[in-house]
Amino acid sequence: MIIEENVVNDSGKIKSTLRGELYTSPVIFELERKHIFSKHWLFVGYEYDVAEPGQYITLKVEGENILIVRGKDHLLRGFLNVCRHRGATLCSDSSGKTGVIRCPYHSWSYGLDGRLAGVPKSSECREELVNNENYGLEKVNVQTWHGLIWLNLSETPLPLEQQLDPQIIERFGELETLSRYQIQNLRVSHRKEYDVKANWKIIVENFQECYHCSAIHPELTSAFPQFRTGIGTQNETGSGASFSESVEAFSISGKGNRPMLKGLLPEDDRLYYGMTINPHVFINLTPDHVIIHRIIPINAERSIVICDWLFDPDEMAKADFDATDAVELFHRVNEQDFEACQWCQENMGSKAYQNGGILVPIEHHVSRFYDYVLESIGLSTSQIAN
Ligand code: FES
Ligand SMILES: [Fe+2]
Repeated sequence: MIIEENVVNDSGKIKSTLRGELYTSPVIFELERKHIFSKHWLFVGYEYDVAEPGQYITLKVEGENILIVRGKDHLLRGFLNVCRHRGATLCSDSSGKTGVIRCPYHSWSYGLDGRLAGVPKSSECREELVNNENYGLEKVNVQTWHGLIWLNLSETPLPLEQQLDPQIIERFGELETLSRYQIQNLRVSHRKEYDVKANWKIIVENFQECYHCSAIHPELTSAFPQFRTGIGTQNETGSGASFSESVEAFSISGKGNRPMLKGLLPEDDRLYYGMTINPHVFINLTPDHVIIHRIIPINAERSIVICDWLFDPDEMAKADFDATDAVELFHRVNEQDFEACQWCQENMGSKAYQNGGILVPIEHHVSRFYDYVLESIGLSTSQIAN
């Protein structure tokens, strides 16, 4: 197999996509796991779920069982959720609260800071074990950003801001717009999970372009007339899409009267912003709620997408709070998008796509994502063969 980088046609009006095998090859998928998903910061959860000392969440990332727990000193820490004795999973529940991390198998116990604290029935070596910090839990880097927890499996990760801030600046021209939405104060009211038979990159590139909007998103284009032109909100730094005059809110009926999120300015009203955060997150900003997608690649041709709808908890506490109308709009968009992604994935192994496809000018910004992937896996300056 020979993998080449994407090329720009001489005219400059046509750029090629990645070649088909970049979306099907297990070799490429392993390179992406090794150089992107095991090295870059990934969004894994919400800080409010681990706000108090002893609160923890568990999850699986790249085949590792992970435990994220708030210490008695209020610091948030990540660990491999694996007992150092014989390797049992320490915490099996997806979330909980505890004063000590106790292994269910032989009852070794660890402090919330990961230190080995108790080794029952082994007076001979107890001191040797608990006094040796090497027998504590294996640490994993976690950091928070706008109330979102990010995790990095690398032992020498780049600072989180170094990964995220340039992307926010490229999208908005500055960092303030996103900060105004105060995502750290919002709560998830609805979550939907989608099992998509498509490579994770197809899902990202679909989200980045709106050339398809008029063909497959009737509800979205009637709410945002600009999308009929194929110009999305990610084509240009700082651009948001305006609501149609006939629409009151970002919802399937177009109706709604929730107040704007606290912190927003009058100019944020009746605007929608979409943005991608490499490698695997989409953030959608609307005046009264925020939608966050994360993609979890399963293999070269399958991905899970988790989509969360976040609202102001003061609104959620009201007796008449009902987000189903708002949720239905993006849920429908998701289903339309993921079906289209599957139409493409089916043919990534076709001879017709062995040299890739075409990006028309309103899709050209997608090639920056290709550059990111190729550079990350080391293919931008070289070719590989096997
Ligand atoms: S495997 Fe955890 S105490 Fe034995
Ligand atoms: Fe779409």
